[in-house]
Amino acid sequence: MPGTYYMPGVNLIHRGALKDVGTWAARLGGTKGLIVASLGSYGESQARLLVEVLARSGIGSAVFAGAGPNPTDAMVARGAAEYRDRGCDFLLAIGGGSAMDCAKGIGLVVSNGGAVADYAGTDRATKELPPFIAVNTTAGTGSEVTSVAVITDGATHRKMMIVDWRLTADVSVNDPELMLSMPPELTAYTGMDALSHAIEAYLATNATALSDSLAYESIVLAFAWLPAAFSDGRNVPAREGMCNAAFLAGLAFNNSGLGYVHALSHPLTGKYGLPHGLLNALLLPAVMRWNATRTAPRMARIAVAMGVGHPWRSDRENAEKAIAGVEDLNRRLRLPPGLAALGVKEADLPELARAALEESVAATNPRQAASAEQLLNLYLEAM
Ligand SMILES: [Fe+2]
Repeated sequence: MPGTYYMPGVNLIHRGALKDVGTWAARLGGTKGLIVASLGSYGESQARLLVEVLARSGIGSAVFAGAGPNPTDAMVARGAAEYRDRGCDFLLAIGGGSAMDCAKGIGLVVSNGGAVADYAGTDRATKELPPFIAVNTTAGTGSEVTSVAVITDGATHRKMMIVDWRLTADVSVNDPELMLSMPPELTAYTGMDALSHAIEAYLATNATALSDSLAYESIVLAFAWLPAAFSDGRNVPAREGMCNAAFLAGLAFNNSGLGYVHALSHPLTGKYGLPHGLLNALLLPAVMRWNATRTAPRMARIAVAMGVGHPWRSDRENAEKAIAGVEDLNRRLRLPPGLAALGVKEADLPELARAALEESVAATNPRQAASAEQLLNLYLEAM
């Protein structure tokens, strides 16, 4: 509902914020936390950071480094079993969207029972989730602040959207120092995911004064800092800028909705397992062009936020500058020229377009397609 705002009650966003997690875990009454991290040794090393921070506050923990990219219902079930078997009483996630979405799914299952698929849709949970601290190590998904979890059905490969106000973390943590080691490719992908969130939130039909203010500044920051964070990962001001851009964009879209960039991107990830942010980056210009006929005045303001718009131009001209600005940013981040270069097959697109039309995030796109055929054309334009 536009005008109803969900966000974590406490948000730590500064260098060294990780060190405060033990204090906040104690304030939430946690005695033993399940730390949900990415699959494998990288996730385990990130989880160890939290184990140490919690131990300094006398709080126990167990590690579940089992959240793969695009986490599945089976991963959630394994994490929920760990939570119960190890006697945990609160949840932490450390990583990007996969770890956080997996933790949210685990929270739903341990408090409400059943399987995570039971909660696909909107506000299906009836019981309070365990206290939850979300520590973000990328600058993109915004999952640390949102009330959304995307879980893949392992059998059908379809993405389940779970939207529930109870999924909102109690404490979000964004520590730019955790982002310094992100490789350039991941910096580009997650940064473009954040920019897609901000632009879609700004154009969404449920946009409000609050989401507009968050999204606008997010666009300013992304254009100011993403190329610098990409070319020099140790550039601390650039990392801080992108950390803030992603955080603001997460708050914005959580309250205003998204649009066709994400609606078209989700089925492609389900089919090919391609990175979410990369797909969004390649789809964004085509969707902006589609939306421009209905949203030129707002696209003109986006162009100004990007630093490429001028008041003496018409809204339509400024909207074109905004689209060109995104295309130019994609080139500066050395992204592939289109979906075909990623191995996307034209023959698969009609089925994916039908799936995109059914995506719940499509509902807030400002210009609605009359048929899957029109969405197919957007895919083709992004090839
Ligand atoms: Fe996204």
